[in-house]
Amino acid sequence: MSKSAKIEWLLSNYTNDSNASYEMLSGYWHNQPEVQKLHDEFIENTVSNYFMPFGVAPNFLINNEMYTIPMAIEESSVVAAASKAANFWLDRGGFHAQVISTVKIGHVHFIWEGHDSDLLTKVFEANKNKFTENAADITKNMVARGGGILDIILKDKSDLEPGYFQLEARFETCDSMGANFINSCLESFAHTWQIIVAENQEILGDSSLQIVMSILSNFTPECLVRAEVRCKIDDINEGSGISNYEFAEKFCRAIRIATIEPFRAVTHNKGIMNGIDAVVIATGNDFRATEACAHAYASKNGRYSSLTHAAIEGDEFVFWIELPLSLGTVGGITSLHPMVKFAHELLGYPSAQQLMLITAVAGLAQNFSAVRSLITSGIQKGHMKMHLLNILNQLEATDLEKATIVEYFKDKVVSHSAAVEIFTKIRGGWNPVSEEGSSNLDALAGN
Ligand code: MEV
Repeated sequence: MSKSAKIEWLLSNYTNDSNASYEMLSGYWHNQPEVQKLHDEFIENTVSNYFMPFGVAPNFLINNEMYTIPMAIEESSVVAAASKAANFWLDRGGFHAQVISTVKIGHVHFIWEGHDSDLLTKVFEANKNKFTENAADITKNMVARGGGILDIILKDKSDLEPGYFQLEARFETCDSMGANFINSCLESFAHTWQIIVAENQEILGDSSLQIVMSILSNFTPECLVRAEVRCKIDDINEGSGISNYEFAEKFCRAIRIATIEPFRAVTHNKGIMNGIDAVVIATGNDFRATEACAHAYASKNGRYSSLTHAAIEGDEFVFWIELPLSLGTVGGITSLHPMVKFAHELLGYPSAQQLMLITAVAGLAQNFSAVRSLITSGIQKGHMKMHLLNILNQLEATDLEKATIVEYFKDKVVSHSAAVEIFTKIRGGWNPVSEEGSSNLDALAGN
């Protein structure tokens, strides 16, 4: 079916008012047909585009460089929280981050039902160079960029599943996330392995080989980044009314709770991923892979735990994150999607390693703001203020009504019911601010 035939089929079968639905869907099409075509071709059966807000969090000082971080996310408060943390740490030396390692892993999972795995190892070792030789066409460009296959080992996993073995390979994929490169190499290894095993039947006996699958692992514990902030406890000056030391201690305690209590750890890490996913999406990376990997890493000690850590070291407060991030700055949609290209431009066209640093910092910043609010004012005060516009949009408030209500709640706690109550009163003619206030509100409302 053509795109228009697909839309016609969809609307006539699944919507009540196909004209209105068509208006809505086509309203989201890009006004430049060539840009729309790009989006149509990113996936299959594209009928429209799905907008997400694209915001920026400025004032991030990372390794002595200033960044404005692009964030694509639908949740209110996240960009504000990142910006707030960026400002806070700007005056305290900023963020310091380092890439610890950049190795990625993939497997050929296979079943071999022979009796002597030592023989299999012998055959593997004697023919090992053939894997890289046969994949040379695939690896040529990556090798020229300084990457490629790092090593391949044979692993016996038959204690877990009868006859189960793996070829486990390590890769360096430079500035690309590398999924296609790794999977192509692995499929080549699988083919080579079949040939090697067939050629060595005399040694191996009449044992069959079944390639089950060849696929990268999105768990990349050797593609690791660490970001930290630190300051003198005396410099915390956090402004919430508790002493600096009490703040530092309470913060560390909150992190310890997220370390030992999985129910808290999931929410805690979700907040970290608010920052990380927003950068990952804005820069055209794979947030599902990033999420799956982060949570697996959070469980690496056998219990789901916090991705961030905090300590009081002498007279200093230290707060850090360590997590695997497999990101790319070339390949995928990075050179295709106009907003993604813009995000990379904003960041000064970072390398994959720089993007790992920036993204880890966004996660740390997000977590700092969340924990800071949680242990002082509570999360709802700030969050509901940010969420207020969503409530008012649901009520279809005008710009002037929105500005009036935002002004009204400036020094009050927002709740859904309080927002509805004030909105209803204002619709009924009540004006909560003075005449002078109203003219300011006109400006706030953009009138
Ligand atoms: C909300 O999206 C994220 C938080 O719940 C994170 C946290 O509790 O640390 C605020």
